[in-house]
Amino acid sequence: MNIEQFLPMEFGEQDFVNTPYLNDLTMRALTYIKAGFPVNLSGPAGTGKTTMALYLALKVGRPVALLHGSDWISSTNLVGGNFGYKKKMRIDNYIHSVQEFEESLQYQWVEGMLGIACRNGMTLIYDEFTRSRPEINNLLLSIVEEKILSLPGWQKEKNYIKVHPDFRLVFTSNPEEYAGVHRAQVALIDRMINLEMDRFDRETEIAIASQKSGLPEDEAASIVDLVRSFREQCGFNNNVSVRSSIRIAQIFRFTREDASYDEEFFGKIVNDVLMSEIRYSESKSYLKAREIIKNLLVSRGSKDEQEI
Ligand SMILES: Nc1ncnc2c1ncn2[C@@H]1O[C@H](COP(=O)(O)OP(=O)(O)O)[C@@H](O)[C@H]1O
Ligand SMILES: [Mg+2]
Repeated sequence: MNIEQFLPMEFGEQDFVNTPYLNDLTMRALTYIKAGFPVNLSGPAGTGKTTMALYLALKVGRPVALLHGSDWISSTNLVGGNFGYKKKMRIDNYIHSVQEFEESLQYQWVEGMLGIACRNGMTLIYDEFTRSRPEINNLLLSIVEEKILSLPGWQKEKNYIKVHPDFRLVFTSNPEEYAGVHRAQVALIDRMINLEMDRFDRETEIAIASQKSGLPEDEAASIVDLVRSFREQCGFNNNVSVRSSIRIAQIFRFTREDASYDEEFFGKIVNDVLMSEIRYSESKSYLKAREIIKNLLVSRGSKDEQEI
């Protein structure tokens, strides 16, 4: 793994919709990051955490490394490890029956992503960090506290890396996922500045849905209003976020180019997308969600008629 692997960052200013809500959050987060404090963007799925982390990293202006939390992350691939094995075969050109094998174990230290980022003063985005095992995340404690990354004991020359002064950390996490599970992570969370990201306000949601789908703002607005009303009316657990608005807007934009699609088909799209986002444990909730969608579509239809 080397530093070029992380560059260039494929995320630019044009990918980020900025509204007063997001601008306020950006200004605060950037101040803390520049002052040297790790920031944790926390909130439910679809509140723009990953996008905000990418944007902040872009604004910091240093090379960026992106790490996704998971059970699979080990201290070896995070910090580094020893790898290497060599096997050679020698065939004698004159006496063909003579073959010799030479095997040797030559270890070479291969630095992990965290090591590279710390050494080179990169901005590390650690997305959904609570999905990694707590003991792995403990490696970050000494980085945050003492600005030192400890290496495994058998590293002969030096058993730590001094963290580059430009190294910065941006975390994201979803509190619903780790509530009460990973207590060991609390020590780390206590050392970050936690910024809560909530559901987008209407204006931001419309701007994002419009940008991602290419629909004009007024058309995106009617989709966003439908999705937001569904979320509000749905009393039970749901995952309906700006993602649903983006999906419906993108599919709608795509179908608009073909005249054979009609309003009834639009209703089916809305139903399919929204029903995919709800978690229902009983058929009563399922039926209620369908009913809400049906009513929303009917009132949308009558509104359209009035406008004509
Ligand atoms: N500020 C923004 N500008 C443009 N698109 C955004 C913005 N915030 C979120 N999105 C879009 O909304 C969706 C959800 O955002 P994401 O960052 O993945 O949320 P989270 O990480 O909280 O689940 C994505 O499709 C993303 O591209
Ligand atoms: Mg995310």
